[in-house]
Amino acid sequence: MPEDSLKIGLDELWKRLSTSNSGSLLKKHLTPTVYEKLKDKVTDYGGSLADCIRSGCLHLKSHCGIYASDPDAYDVFSDVFYPVIKDYHGVQTLAHPKPDFGDLDNLGFGDLDPKNDFINSTRIRVGRSHANFGFPATSTKEDRLEMERMTVAALRTLRGELAGKYFPLSTMTPAVEKQMIQDHFLFRNDDPVLGDANGYDDWPAGRGIFFSNNKRFLVWLNEEDHLRIISMQEGGNLAEVWQRLVKGLTALEKKLTFAHHPKFGYLTFCPTNLGTTLRASVHIRIPNLSKKPDFKQICDKLNLQPRGIHGEHSESEGGVYDISNKRRMGLTEIDAIQEMRRGVEKIIELESNLRKTKK
Ligand code: ADP
Ligand code: ARG
Repeated sequence: MPEDSLKIGLDELWKRLSTSNSGSLLKKHLTPTVYEKLKDKVTDYGGSLADCIRSGCLHLKSHCGIYASDPDAYDVFSDVFYPVIKDYHGVQTLAHPKPDFGDLDNLGFGDLDPKNDFINSTRIRVGRSHANFGFPATSTKEDRLEMERMTVAALRTLRGELAGKYFPLSTMTPAVEKQMIQDHFLFRNDDPVLGDANGYDDWPAGRGIFFSNNKRFLVWLNEEDHLRIISMQEGGNLAEVWQRLVKGLTALEKKLTFAHHPKFGYLTFCPTNLGTTLRASVHIRIPNLSKKPDFKQICDKLNLQPRGIHGEHSESEGGVYDISNKRRMGLTEIDAIQEMRRGVEKIIELESNLRKTKK
């Protein structure tokens, strides 16, 4: 019988991590001294150290390896979270600036690929958590359903280009679900790393997707975060995608209260997403540049992260990559967008030069 990983206790989890040669940030910063200090602590939401580290102890290849059981976990277990956050985000001090979405009428950029030579599509997402609710390890089925109810009520007030319809996962046919995943709209529930962090508890209760009528504004409910707010469209018009996202986010903020932390900005389940929580990506055709042995280093230097085109940990297909901003914390939203914009422009220039030399 497969072991029920969600039932493995703290002693066993610690044994597996501490005797491993895992390269995760969890392993690096949860030293025996820190472990002894934290092992009996519990948050007001009932979150334990085991809840936070289970996934990282069972998946020793994780890069980060820790999740917050709830909004309080970041401070209750600060001896491990703070150094992990500093290390992951490459910041010396834990201070995140106030939100700044830029001057939407004067962004100074528009379409990054007006001739449609490189970019298939552009997508920007942010994560948000409902204030006063636990994250997956400390949420009940009732909590998930209540969060769904609150979010759907807010989504129903959207008007104009943002107006749309909510599709709960519980009533979706398998064929529709499969198609939506293939079309890059919907999330899946087959990642054991997230599953072992309680990410799929009570599945599919409280999960679903909202689409604007033109399918360019989307909200994911109770996937990894309580909300993932997404703007996407074909082509490279970063300005349009950004303006729509900010419009939708601003409208939702009037109806819902989101968890925010003085040091970390907007709170998310995974510490890798803290701060602006923003990932702005393009699916970009770079068959020449991506073949270069130093492709990863080029991206790194530009503070960009390359991914495959079916989401995190997927492979690229036919030289098409998902390229996004790497930094989310310690800078403002508009700075994260500008960093991604500059990086993508440089990637286009490099691919363009390689195409010319091939001719
Ligand atoms: P996240 O939600 O953390 O940004 P994933 O990497 O898991 O991350 O991607 C979620 C989904 O969004 C996947 O289906 C992925 O293919 C899709 N996606 C990401 N970026 C783009 C893009 N620029 N254009 C189209 N689809 C995208
Ligand atoms: N826990 C995983 C790791 O540490 C995922 C981290 C980032 N991804 C995410 N979807 N939050 O490697």
